[in-house]
Amino acid sequence: MGAHICIIGTGYVGLVTGACFAEVGHRVICVDNDLNKVAFLQRGGIPIYEPGLDEIVHRNVTEGRLRFSGQIADGVRESEVIFIAVPTPPRPDGSVDMSYVEKVAREIATSITEYKIIVDKSTVPVKTGERVAETIRRYNKDKIEVDVVSSPEFLREGCAVQDLMQPDRIVIGVASQRPVAKMKEIYEPFHAPIIVTDINSAEMIKHACNSFLALKISYANALSAICEASGANVEDVVHGMGLDKRIGRAFLNAGLGYGGSCFPKDISAFIQIAHELGCEFDLLKEVQRINAEQIQRFLKKVHDTLWIVKDKTISILGLAFKPNTDDMRLAPSLEIIHSLQQEGARIKAYDPKAMDKAKELLTGVEFCPDPYTTSVGADALILCTEWDEFRQLDLEKLRSVMAQPIVLDGRNLFDPAKMKELGFAYKSVGR
Ligand code: UDX
Repeated sequence: MGAHICIIGTGYVGLVTGACFAEVGHRVICVDNDLNKVAFLQRGGIPIYEPGLDEIVHRNVTEGRLRFSGQIADGVRESEVIFIAVPTPPRPDGSVDMSYVEKVAREIATSITEYKIIVDKSTVPVKTGERVAETIRRYNKDKIEVDVVSSPEFLREGCAVQDLMQPDRIVIGVASQRPVAKMKEIYEPFHAPIIVTDINSAEMIKHACNSFLALKISYANALSAICEASGANVEDVVHGMGLDKRIGRAFLNAGLGYGGSCFPKDISAFIQIAHELGCEFDLLKEVQRINAEQIQRFLKKVHDTLWIVKDKTISILGLAFKPNTDDMRLAPSLEIIHSLQQEGARIKAYDPKAMDKAKELLTGVEFCPDPYTTSVGADALILCTEWDEFRQLDLEKLRSVMAQPIVLDGRNLFDPAKMKELGFAYKSVGR
Protein backbone atom coordinates (compact mmCIF):
# COMPACT_ATOMS: atom_id res chain seq x y z
CA MET A 1 0.00 0.00 0.00
CA GLY A 2 2.83 2.37 0.83
CA ALA A 3 3.08 5.14 3.41
CA HIS A 4 1.12 8.41 3.30
CA ILE A 5 3.67 11.15 2.90
CA CYS A 6 3.54 14.92 2.67
CA ILE A 7 6.49 16.87 1.23
CA ILE A 8 6.56 20.58 1.97
CA GLY A 9 8.52 22.51 -0.68
CA THR A 10 8.63 21.57 -4.37
CA GLY A 11 12.16 22.75 -5.20
CA TYR A 12 14.83 20.35 -6.45
CA VAL A 13 14.90 18.28 -3.28
CA GLY A 14 11.17 18.30 -2.52
CA LEU A 15 9.89 17.60 -6.02
CA VAL A 16 12.39 14.85 -6.85
CA THR A 17 11.98 13.23 -3.43
CA GLY A 18 8.19 13.33 -3.70
CA ALA A 19 8.23 11.88 -7.21
CA CYS A 20 10.63 9.08 -6.26
CA PHE A 21 8.66 8.18 -3.10
CA ALA A 22 5.55 7.89 -5.30
CA GLU A 23 7.50 5.83 -7.84
CA VAL A 24 8.24 3.16 -5.21
CA GLY A 25 4.57 2.97 -4.19
CA HIS A 26 4.01 5.58 -1.46
CA ARG A 27 1.07 8.03 -1.58
CA VAL A 28 2.56 11.48 -1.79
CA ILE A 29 1.18 14.99 -1.59
CA CYS A 30 3.64 17.76 -2.47
CA VAL A 31 2.84 21.17 -1.00
CA ASP A 32 4.19 24.57 -1.97
CA ASN A 33 3.12 28.08 -0.96
CA ASP A 34 3.84 29.34 -4.49
CA LEU A 35 0.34 28.84 -5.88
CA ASN A 36 1.43 29.56 -9.47
CA LYS A 37 3.97 26.75 -9.20
CA VAL A 38 1.36 24.40 -7.74
CA ALA A 39 -1.05 25.24 -10.59
CA PHE A 40 1.76 24.70 -13.12
CA LEU A 41 2.56 21.29 -11.58
CA GLN A 42 -1.13 20.37 -11.51
CA ARG A 43 -1.31 21.15 -15.25
CA GLY A 44 1.54 18.71 -15.85
CA GLY A 45 4.36 21.30 -15.97
CA ILE A 46 7.81 20.58 -14.51
CA PRO A 47 9.51 23.75 -13.26
CA ILE A 48 13.10 22.43 -13.44
CA TYR A 49 15.12 20.49 -15.98
CA GLU A 50 16.16 17.20 -14.43
CA PRO A 51 16.71 14.07 -16.57
CA GLY A 52 13.91 11.51 -16.10
CA LEU A 53 11.85 13.64 -13.70
CA ASP A 54 8.97 14.55 -16.01
CA GLU A 55 8.33 10.90 -16.84
CA ILE A 56 8.18 9.86 -13.17
CA VAL A 57 5.98 12.79 -12.19
CA HIS A 58 3.51 12.21 -15.01
CA ARG A 59 3.31 8.46 -14.43
CA ASN A 60 2.68 8.81 -10.72
CA VAL A 61 0.16 11.63 -11.12
CA THR A 62 -1.74 9.53 -13.68
CA GLU A 63 -1.68 6.49 -11.42
CA GLY A 64 -2.93 8.54 -8.47
CA ARG A 65 0.08 8.27 -6.16
CA LEU A 66 1.29 11.88 -6.52
CA ARG A 67 -0.68 15.09 -5.98
CA PHE A 68 0.07 18.79 -5.51
CA SER A 69 -1.50 21.27 -3.12
CA GLY A 70 -1.03 24.87 -1.99
CA GLN A 71 -2.15 24.11 1.58
CA ILE A 72 0.06 22.64 4.29
CA ALA A 73 -3.07 21.71 6.26
CA ASP A 74 -4.22 19.43 3.37
CA GLY A 75 -0.93 17.59 3.26
CA VAL A 76 -0.59 17.29 7.03
CA ARG A 77 -4.13 15.95 7.51
CA GLU A 78 -3.68 13.15 4.99
CA SER A 79 -0.15 12.05 5.93
CA GLU A 80 1.59 10.06 8.63
CA VAL A 81 5.00 11.44 7.76
CA ILE A 82 5.73 15.06 6.81
CA PHE A 83 8.99 15.98 5.11
CA ILE A 84 10.28 19.56 5.24
CA ALA A 85 12.17 20.40 2.04
CA VAL A 86 12.11 24.19 1.93
CA PRO A 87 15.06 26.45 1.08
CA THR A 88 17.75 27.27 3.64
CA PRO A 89 19.41 30.16 1.77
CA PRO A 90 22.55 31.97 2.89
CA ARG A 91 22.45 35.29 4.72
CA PRO A 92 25.03 37.96 3.85
CA ASP A 93 27.41 36.77 6.62
CA GLY A 94 27.37 33.18 5.30
CA SER A 95 25.09 31.85 8.05
CA VAL A 96 21.87 30.03 7.14
CA ASP A 97 18.50 31.74 6.91
CA MET A 98 16.28 29.29 8.79
CA SER A 99 13.12 31.39 8.62
CA TYR A 100 11.41 29.18 5.99
CA VAL A 101 11.95 26.04 8.06
CA GLU A 102 10.72 27.80 11.20
CA LYS A 103 7.60 29.10 9.43
CA VAL A 104 6.77 25.66 8.07
CA ALA A 105 7.30 24.12 11.54
CA ARG A 106 4.80 26.62 12.97
CA GLU A 107 2.28 25.86 10.25
CA ILE A 108 2.64 22.12 10.79
CA ALA A 109 2.16 22.69 14.52
CA THR A 110 -1.13 24.49 14.01
CA SER A 111 -2.38 21.86 11.53
CA ILE A 112 -1.74 18.60 13.39
CA THR A 113 -4.45 16.84 15.36
CA GLU A 114 -2.76 13.45 15.85
CA TYR A 115 0.72 11.89 16.11
CA LYS A 116 3.00 12.65 13.14
CA ILE A 117 6.59 12.08 12.17
CA ILE A 118 8.20 15.30 10.95
CA VAL A 119 11.34 14.81 8.89
CA ASP A 120 13.80 17.49 7.95
CA LYS A 121 15.27 16.90 4.46
CA SER A 122 16.68 20.40 3.88
CA THR A 123 20.37 20.99 4.57
CA VAL A 124 20.36 22.61 8.00
CA PRO A 125 22.77 23.56 10.79
CA VAL A 126 23.38 20.99 13.49
CA LYS A 127 20.82 21.32 16.33
CA THR A 128 17.99 22.35 13.97
CA GLY A 129 16.01 19.23 14.90
CA GLU A 130 15.88 20.39 18.52
CA ARG A 131 14.62 23.79 17.37
CA VAL A 132 11.94 22.27 15.13
CA ALA A 133 10.72 20.00 17.95
CA GLU A 134 10.61 22.95 20.35
CA THR A 135 8.70 25.09 17.80
CA ILE A 136 6.12 22.38 17.26
CA ARG A 137 5.64 21.88 21.00
CA ARG A 138 5.23 25.63 21.46
CA TYR A 139 2.74 26.27 18.67
CA ASN A 140 0.58 23.13 18.93
CA LYS A 141 -2.08 24.04 21.45
CA ASP A 142 -3.25 20.46 22.07
CA LYS A 143 0.26 19.24 22.91
CA ILE A 144 -0.01 16.45 20.34
CA GLU A 145 3.03 14.19 20.38
CA VAL A 146 5.33 14.24 17.37
CA ASP A 147 8.70 12.79 16.51
CA VAL A 148 11.19 14.97 14.69
CA VAL A 149 13.66 13.15 12.43
CA SER A 150 16.62 14.36 10.37
CA SER A 151 17.10 12.63 7.03
CA PRO A 152 19.35 14.75 4.81
CA GLU A 153 19.22 14.44 1.03
CA PHE A 154 22.41 13.80 -0.95
CA LEU A 155 21.08 14.21 -4.49
CA ARG A 156 23.11 15.96 -7.16
CA GLU A 157 21.43 18.15 -9.73
CA GLY A 158 21.56 16.59 -13.15
CA CYS A 159 21.34 13.05 -11.79
CA ALA A 160 18.91 13.66 -8.94
CA VAL A 161 16.47 10.90 -9.90
CA GLN A 162 19.23 8.32 -10.14
CA ASP A 163 20.78 9.50 -6.83
CA LEU A 164 17.42 9.19 -5.14
CA MET A 165 16.43 5.84 -6.61
CA GLN A 166 19.88 4.29 -6.01
CA PRO A 167 21.35 6.08 -3.00
CA ASP A 168 24.75 5.13 -1.53
CA ARG A 169 23.19 5.25 1.92
CA ILE A 170 20.23 6.63 3.80
CA VAL A 171 20.70 8.57 7.04
CA ILE A 172 18.01 8.67 9.69
CA GLY A 173 18.63 10.84 12.75
CA VAL A 174 16.23 10.24 15.63
CA ALA A 175 15.74 11.20 19.27
CA SER A 176 13.91 7.95 20.13
CA GLN A 177 13.25 4.55 18.56
CA ARG A 178 9.57 5.26 17.92
CA PRO A 179 9.81 6.68 14.35
CA VAL A 180 12.51 4.24 13.18
CA ALA A 181 10.26 1.43 11.89
CA LYS A 182 8.10 3.79 9.79
CA MET A 183 11.18 5.56 8.40
CA LYS A 184 12.71 2.22 7.44
CA GLU A 185 9.45 1.19 5.78
CA ILE A 186 9.54 4.38 3.67
CA TYR A 187 13.15 3.85 2.60
CA GLU A 188 13.15 0.05 2.35
CA PRO A 189 12.20 0.01 -1.41
CA PHE A 190 15.44 1.87 -2.24
CA HIS A 191 17.58 -1.10 -1.14
CA ALA A 192 20.37 1.03 0.35
CA PRO A 193 22.24 0.75 3.66
CA ILE A 194 20.34 2.68 6.31
CA ILE A 195 22.21 4.22 9.19
CA VAL A 196 20.38 5.38 12.29
CA THR A 197 22.06 8.10 14.38
CA ASP A 198 21.09 10.85 16.79
CA ILE A 199 19.65 13.97 15.14
CA ASN A 200 22.73 16.18 15.55
CA SER A 201 24.98 13.61 13.89
CA ALA A 202 22.59 13.16 10.95
CA GLU A 203 22.51 16.92 10.40
CA MET A 204 26.29 17.11 10.60
CA ILE A 205 26.80 14.24 8.13
CA LYS A 206 25.34 16.37 5.35
CA HIS A 207 27.59 19.37 5.96
CA ALA A 208 30.60 17.14 6.53
CA CYS A 209 30.02 15.38 3.18
CA ASN A 210 29.57 18.49 1.07
CA SER A 211 32.58 20.19 2.68
CA PHE A 212 34.76 17.13 2.11
CA LEU A 213 33.71 16.90 -1.55
CA ALA A 214 34.49 20.61 -2.04
CA LEU A 215 37.81 20.00 -0.33
CA LYS A 216 38.61 17.26 -2.85
CA ILE A 217 37.82 19.64 -5.73
CA SER A 218 39.98 22.42 -4.26
CA TYR A 219 42.76 19.92 -3.64
CA ALA A 220 42.73 18.97 -7.32
CA ASN A 221 42.60 22.64 -8.32
CA ALA A 222 45.54 23.52 -6.08
CA LEU A 223 47.41 20.59 -7.63
CA SER A 224 46.57 21.91 -11.10
CA ALA A 225 48.47 25.13 -10.36
CA ILE A 226 51.53 23.17 -9.22
CA CYS A 227 51.24 20.91 -12.27
CA GLU A 228 51.21 23.92 -14.59
CA ALA A 229 54.25 25.39 -12.86
CA SER A 230 56.16 22.10 -12.96
CA GLY A 231 55.08 20.63 -16.29
CA ALA A 232 53.23 17.70 -14.70
CA ASN A 233 49.76 16.66 -15.90
CA VAL A 234 47.00 16.95 -13.30
CA GLU A 235 44.84 14.36 -15.07
CA ASP A 236 47.58 11.75 -14.70
CA VAL A 237 48.23 12.82 -11.12
CA VAL A 238 44.59 12.43 -10.01
CA HIS A 239 44.29 9.17 -11.95
CA GLY A 240 47.26 7.85 -10.02
CA MET A 241 45.78 9.10 -6.76
CA GLY A 242 42.25 7.89 -7.46
CA LEU A 243 43.24 4.25 -7.89
CA ASP A 244 44.18 4.25 -4.22
CA LYS A 245 40.92 2.95 -2.69
CA ARG A 246 41.40 5.15 0.34
CA ILE A 247 41.26 8.23 -1.89
CA GLY A 248 38.96 7.40 -4.84
CA ARG A 249 38.87 9.15 -8.21
CA ALA A 250 35.54 11.01 -7.83
CA PHE A 251 35.49 14.79 -7.27
CA LEU A 252 39.14 15.21 -8.17
CA ASN A 253 38.53 16.95 -11.50
CA ALA A 254 40.45 20.20 -11.79
CA GLY A 255 38.66 22.94 -13.71
CA LEU A 256 36.91 26.21 -13.01
CA GLY A 257 36.00 25.16 -9.48
CA TYR A 258 32.69 24.37 -7.86
CA GLY A 259 29.54 26.48 -8.20
CA GLY A 260 25.83 25.79 -7.85
CA SER A 261 23.32 26.21 -5.11
CA CYS A 262 24.89 23.83 -2.58
CA PHE A 263 28.67 23.76 -2.19
CA PRO A 264 29.34 27.52 -1.96
CA LYS A 265 26.46 28.00 0.48
CA ASP A 266 27.05 24.88 2.54
CA ILE A 267 30.77 25.49 3.00
CA SER A 268 30.12 29.07 4.20
CA ALA A 269 27.43 27.75 6.50
CA PHE A 270 29.62 25.02 7.99
CA ILE A 271 32.41 27.52 8.66
CA GLN A 272 29.86 29.76 10.42
CA ILE A 273 28.27 26.87 12.36
CA ALA A 274 31.69 25.74 13.60
CA HIS A 275 32.57 29.32 14.55
CA GLU A 276 29.38 29.71 16.56
CA LEU A 277 30.26 26.49 18.39
CA GLY A 278 33.67 27.94 19.24
CA CYS A 279 35.61 25.93 16.62
CA GLU A 280 37.47 27.60 13.73
CA PHE A 281 37.32 25.45 10.57
CA ASP A 282 40.10 27.32 8.75
CA LEU A 283 40.74 24.37 6.44
CA LEU A 284 37.41 25.16 4.76
CA LYS A 285 38.33 28.83 4.39
CA GLU A 286 41.31 27.68 2.34
CA VAL A 287 38.98 25.50 0.24
CA GLN A 288 36.95 28.63 -0.53
CA ARG A 289 40.07 30.68 -1.30
CA ILE A 290 41.39 28.10 -3.76
CA ASN A 291 38.00 27.91 -5.45
CA ALA A 292 37.86 31.69 -5.98
CA GLU A 293 41.49 31.80 -7.12
CA GLN A 294 40.90 29.09 -9.73
CA ILE A 295 38.71 31.38 -11.85
CA GLN A 296 41.23 34.23 -11.54
CA ARG A 297 44.03 31.92 -12.70
CA PHE A 298 41.91 30.91 -15.68
CA LEU A 299 41.15 34.54 -16.57
CA LYS A 300 44.87 35.28 -16.41
CA LYS A 301 45.36 32.49 -18.95
CA VAL A 302 42.81 34.17 -21.22
CA HIS A 303 44.71 37.46 -20.92
CA ASP A 304 48.09 35.85 -21.49
CA THR A 305 46.73 34.22 -24.64
CA LEU A 306 44.83 37.16 -26.13
CA TRP A 307 47.09 39.95 -24.78
CA ILE A 308 44.26 42.51 -25.30
CA VAL A 309 40.69 41.39 -24.56
CA LYS A 310 39.00 44.63 -25.66
CA ASP A 311 37.02 44.30 -28.91
CA LYS A 312 37.72 40.57 -29.16
CA THR A 313 34.82 38.20 -29.92
CA ILE A 314 34.71 35.33 -27.46
CA SER A 315 32.60 32.22 -27.88
CA ILE A 316 31.44 30.68 -24.59
CA LEU A 317 30.37 27.03 -24.70
CA GLY A 318 28.45 25.94 -21.60
CA LEU A 319 26.81 28.27 -19.10
CA ALA A 320 25.21 26.02 -16.45
CA PHE A 321 27.26 25.46 -13.27
CA LYS A 322 27.69 21.84 -14.40
CA PRO A 323 26.34 19.53 -17.14
CA ASN A 324 22.80 18.09 -17.24
CA THR A 325 21.17 20.98 -15.45
CA ASP A 326 19.73 24.34 -16.42
CA ASP A 327 20.84 25.77 -13.07
CA MET A 328 22.89 28.98 -13.35
CA ARG A 329 23.30 29.65 -9.62
CA LEU A 330 26.92 30.67 -8.94
CA ALA A 331 27.99 29.22 -12.28
CA PRO A 332 31.67 30.01 -12.98
CA SER A 333 30.61 31.11 -16.50
CA LEU A 334 28.95 34.19 -14.97
CA GLU A 335 32.13 35.49 -13.37
CA ILE A 336 34.13 34.79 -16.50
CA ILE A 337 31.64 36.54 -18.79
CA HIS A 338 31.26 39.57 -16.48
CA SER A 339 35.02 39.98 -16.25
CA LEU A 340 35.55 39.74 -20.03
CA GLN A 341 32.65 42.12 -20.71
CA GLN A 342 34.14 44.65 -18.31
CA GLU A 343 37.29 44.58 -20.41
CA GLY A 344 35.28 45.27 -23.55
CA ALA A 345 35.00 41.79 -25.09
CA ARG A 346 32.02 40.85 -27.25
CA ILE A 347 30.46 37.64 -25.87
CA LYS A 348 28.53 35.01 -27.82
CA ALA A 349 27.25 32.03 -25.84
CA TYR A 350 25.54 28.67 -26.12
CA ASP A 351 24.30 26.14 -23.58
CA PRO A 352 22.14 23.09 -24.32
CA LYS A 353 19.69 23.77 -21.44
CA ALA A 354 20.57 26.86 -19.41
CA MET A 355 20.10 29.70 -21.92
CA ASP A 356 16.66 30.78 -20.67
CA LYS A 357 17.95 31.10 -17.12
CA ALA A 358 21.21 32.70 -18.33
CA LYS A 359 19.25 35.37 -20.21
CA GLU A 360 17.80 36.55 -16.90
CA LEU A 361 21.30 37.03 -15.44
CA LEU A 362 23.38 38.31 -18.34
CA THR A 363 23.09 41.44 -20.48
CA GLY A 364 24.85 42.24 -23.73
CA VAL A 365 25.45 38.57 -24.57
CA GLU A 366 24.51 37.20 -27.99
CA PHE A 367 22.87 33.82 -27.33
CA CYS A 368 23.23 31.41 -30.26
CA PRO A 369 21.38 28.24 -31.26
CA ASP A 370 24.42 25.90 -31.52
CA PRO A 371 28.18 25.76 -30.83
CA TYR A 372 29.18 26.51 -34.43
CA THR A 373 27.04 29.66 -34.80
CA THR A 374 28.40 30.79 -31.42
CA SER A 375 31.95 30.42 -32.68
CA VAL A 376 31.57 32.17 -36.06
CA GLY A 377 34.18 34.95 -36.16
CA ALA A 378 35.43 34.20 -32.62
CA ASP A 379 38.93 35.25 -31.59
CA ALA A 380 38.80 32.58 -28.89
CA LEU A 381 36.52 29.90 -27.54
CA ILE A 382 36.12 29.29 -23.80
CA LEU A 383 34.57 26.06 -22.59
CA CYS A 384 32.90 26.56 -19.18
CA THR A 385 30.72 23.43 -18.80
CA GLU A 386 31.60 19.89 -19.87
CA TRP A 387 28.32 18.92 -21.57
CA ASP A 388 28.50 15.58 -23.44
CA GLU A 389 27.25 17.38 -26.54
CA PHE A 390 30.61 19.20 -26.74
CA ARG A 391 32.53 15.92 -26.80
CA GLN A 392 30.83 15.13 -30.13
CA LEU A 393 31.75 18.45 -31.79
CA ASP A 394 33.16 18.44 -35.32
CA LEU A 395 36.35 20.23 -34.31
CA GLU A 396 37.52 20.85 -37.87
CA LYS A 397 34.24 22.56 -38.67
CA LEU A 398 34.56 24.55 -35.44
CA ARG A 399 38.06 25.71 -36.34
CA SER A 400 36.97 26.67 -39.86
CA VAL A 401 34.32 29.13 -38.59
CA MET A 402 36.53 30.77 -35.93
CA ALA A 403 38.55 33.90 -36.71
CA GLN A 404 41.41 32.52 -34.60
CA PRO A 405 41.78 28.83 -33.65
CA ILE A 406 42.20 29.49 -29.93
CA VAL A 407 40.48 27.24 -27.37
CA LEU A 408 40.66 27.74 -23.60
CA ASP A 409 39.16 24.67 -22.00
CA GLY A 410 38.04 25.31 -18.41
CA ARG A 411 36.99 21.67 -17.86
CA ASN A 412 39.73 19.62 -19.57
CA LEU A 413 37.16 18.19 -21.97
CA PHE A 414 39.37 17.95 -25.07
CA ASP A 415 42.52 15.95 -25.69
CA PRO A 416 45.51 18.34 -25.88
CA ALA A 417 47.38 16.22 -28.46
CA LYS A 418 44.35 16.03 -30.75
CA MET A 419 43.71 19.77 -30.45
CA LYS A 420 47.31 20.49 -31.39
CA GLU A 421 47.08 18.11 -34.34
CA LEU A 422 43.95 19.94 -35.53
CA GLY A 423 45.83 23.24 -35.46
CA PHE A 424 44.31 24.79 -32.35
CA ALA A 425 46.22 26.92 -29.87
CA TYR A 426 44.84 25.02 -26.89
CA LYS A 427 45.07 25.65 -23.16
CA SER A 428 43.38 23.70 -20.40
CA VAL A 429 43.76 23.40 -16.61
CA GLY A 430 46.79 21.81 -15.01
CA ARG A 431 48.18 20.00 -18.04
C1 UDX B 1 26.16 18.66 -4.40
C2 UDX B 1 26.44 17.30 -3.74
O1 UDX B 1 27.18 16.47 -4.63
C3 UDX B 1 25.14 16.64 -3.33
O2 UDX B 1 25.41 15.42 -2.65
C4 UDX B 1 24.38 17.58 -2.43
O3 UDX B 1 23.14 17.02 -2.05
C5 UDX B 1 24.17 18.91 -3.11
O4 UDX B 1 25.41 19.46 -3.51
P1 UDX B 1 25.39 19.52 -6.82
O5 UDX B 1 25.70 20.89 -6.33
O6 UDX B 1 24.09 19.27 -7.51
O7 UDX B 1 25.45 18.45 -5.60
O8 UDX B 1 26.52 19.10 -7.87
P2 UDX B 1 27.89 18.27 -7.88
O9 UDX B 1 27.79 17.27 -8.96
O10 UDX B 1 28.28 17.79 -6.55
O11 UDX B 1 28.91 19.41 -8.37
C6 UDX B 1 29.15 20.58 -7.61
C7 UDX B 1 30.16 21.47 -8.29
O12 UDX B 1 31.46 20.91 -8.22
C8 UDX B 1 29.90 21.73 -9.77
O13 UDX B 1 30.15 23.10 -10.04
C9 UDX B 1 30.92 20.88 -10.49
O14 UDX B 1 31.30 21.40 -11.74
C10 UDX B 1 32.07 20.93 -9.49
N1 UDX B 1 33.00 19.79 -9.58
C11 UDX B 1 32.56 18.54 -9.25
C12 UDX B 1 34.32 19.99 -9.95
O15 UDX B 1 34.75 21.12 -10.24
N2 UDX B 1 35.18 18.91 -9.97
C13 UDX B 1 34.77 17.67 -9.65
O16 UDX B 1 35.61 16.76 -9.67
C14 UDX B 1 33.42 17.46 -9.28
